[in-house]
Formats: sequence, structure tokens, C-alpha cells
Amino acid sequence: MEPGENIDPEIFGTFEAQLMEKSMNLKDKIDLLHLPNHVAIIMDGNGRWAKMRKRPRTFGHRNGVKSVRETSEAAAELGIPYLTLYAFSTENWSRPKYEIDALMHLLLQTINQETATLNKNNIKLNAIGNLDSLPQNIFKSLMKAIEDTSDNDRMTLTLALSYSSRWEITEAVKKIVADVKQQNVDPSHIDQSFVSNYFTTSNIPDPELLIRTSGEQRISNFLLWQIAYAELYFTDVLWPDFRKNNLYEAIIDFQSRERRFGKISEQIKVENS
Ligand code: FPP
Repeated sequence: MEPGENIDPEIFGTFEAQLMEKSMNLKDKIDLLHLPNHVAIIMDGNGRWAKMRKRPRTFGHRNGVKSVRETSEAAAELGIPYLTLYAFSTENWSRPKYEIDALMHLLLQTINQETATLNKNNIKLNAIGNLDSLPQNIFKSLMKAIEDTSDNDRMTLTLALSYSSRWEITEAVKKIVADVKQQNVDPSHIDQSFVSNYFTTSNIPDPELLIRTSGEQRISNFLLWQIAYAELYFTDVLWPDFRKNNLYEAIIDFQSRERRFGKISEQIKVENS
């Protein structure tokens, strides 16, 4: 019998279609006219990735930088205007000193090494969080990289550093109260957009898609106000394994959802027609 001789052509047809579907470039399935304006990512799972390889946690963080590079490149290539990465939370200061030192060293190294690549790719660097709490040398390098890339306009890459939402909201409340006290502000003028302007994210739009890696389904004090209407996407992939295709999968999933902003489906259909 010749190979394939007894294959039912109908079944074979389906199998062939499945194969073609699989090999079809994921990127080609993305509707470039409906990209999320801002993607935010909780990069999680570096420690577990390293543990699975019987290596120190810092090995996971070092490999996580490759994913930062790939994801930024993929987002810029697609034309996503804003990408925000949760690189170090306020709570991360409670980790063992050696891990904090290693993360800070990695951050410094990455900022210094990648500024030229950011410029080559027309990407603007931005940072949110309690930046004053960063070690002096990192603060200085960060400010220099932000300044050196400030004219770029293809994509804004924001690093959340020493960031937590509750810290940000508390700081905003303190500043608003001070402004009311100094009579710079009439409390009746305080609305949602007024409050937003007191956040460290005042110069970037709210995320439309929030991704968290590593299988955890938590927000962990990240952009709590700003993600009010974001689509949430959780993947089991550990951050050091996250590659361009994983970002494409998240965007394809985002594009399959109907975003209603509190309205009903029929209203959205009319608005989009
Ligand atoms: C979470 O994994 C990851 C972090 C706290 C740090 C993320 C940092 C990097 C990817 C490298 C540096 C980043 C830049 C932008 C240069 P985890 O340690 O909580 O992992 P686990 O949950 O498996 O323990």
C-alpha cells in the first residue's frame, strides 16, 4: 500500500487545514487597525523559572531581560504606542538584600546598554513610581536615558520602578489636599480627570490590555485606578519564556473580546457600524 492511500480525503482535508492554521503566522492574525493603545505587563515567574533549572533567582531575572527586549521590539514593530512594564514594586524592597542588589545592578546595566537601541528604534523611555527611592546612580542613569530618548515618538516604554498603586494614590491625595489648603483648588472642581493628573501616569493613557505571566491571577497593586476598563489576560508562561508570539496571542485574545464600557452589546454594535 502506498503512503496515504487509505486516507479518507474528507478527514485529510480537515487535517491539512489544521496544519495550515497552526503554521499560519500568529502575527498575520492581528488586526493592525484595532491594536490596544496601551499594553501593561506584570512580568512574573523569574524566580520559578530559575528554580526549575536549579539556578539562583537572579538567573531568572537576567533571562527576564531578554523577554523585556523581545516584547518591546514586538510591541514597537506592531505599532502599539504605549508599553508599560512592572519591573520593581514598592513591596519588592522587602526581598533579600542580595536579590534587590542584583535587580538594581541589572536595571542599571540594561538602561546603560539599551539606550542606543531605544534611540535606533525611536522608542521613548519613561518611568513611573517613587523614583526618589532608587539608588542615586540608578536614578541618574535613568534620568539621562529618559532625557536622551525624549524626542522619540514611535512608542513610549514605561518602566514601573518602586511603584505601587496605593503609594501613588496616597501621594496624589496628599498633593490634592495641599493644593486645596493653599486655595489653589476649589474642591468642587475635583473630578476623575483632575485626580488622574496627580498620578505618575498623568502623561500616558490608561492601559487597554493588562497581561500577567506565570499563572498568577492577581493585580498586585499595579495601576489599580488606570486599569478600570482594561482587558485582563493571564498566561501560564513564565516571564523569561515570554516571546513575541506570546504577545501576539494576548493581542489576538484582546481583539476577540467585546469592550462595552458599561453599555449593552447593541449600543456598541451601532457605535462601531
Ligand atoms: C517577578 O518575578 C519579576 C520581578 C520582580 C522583576 C522583573 C525584572 C526583570 C524582568 C529584569 C529587569 C527589568 C528591566 C526592565 C531591566 P519573581 O521574581 O516574582 O518570580 P517568582 O514569582 O517566580 O518568584
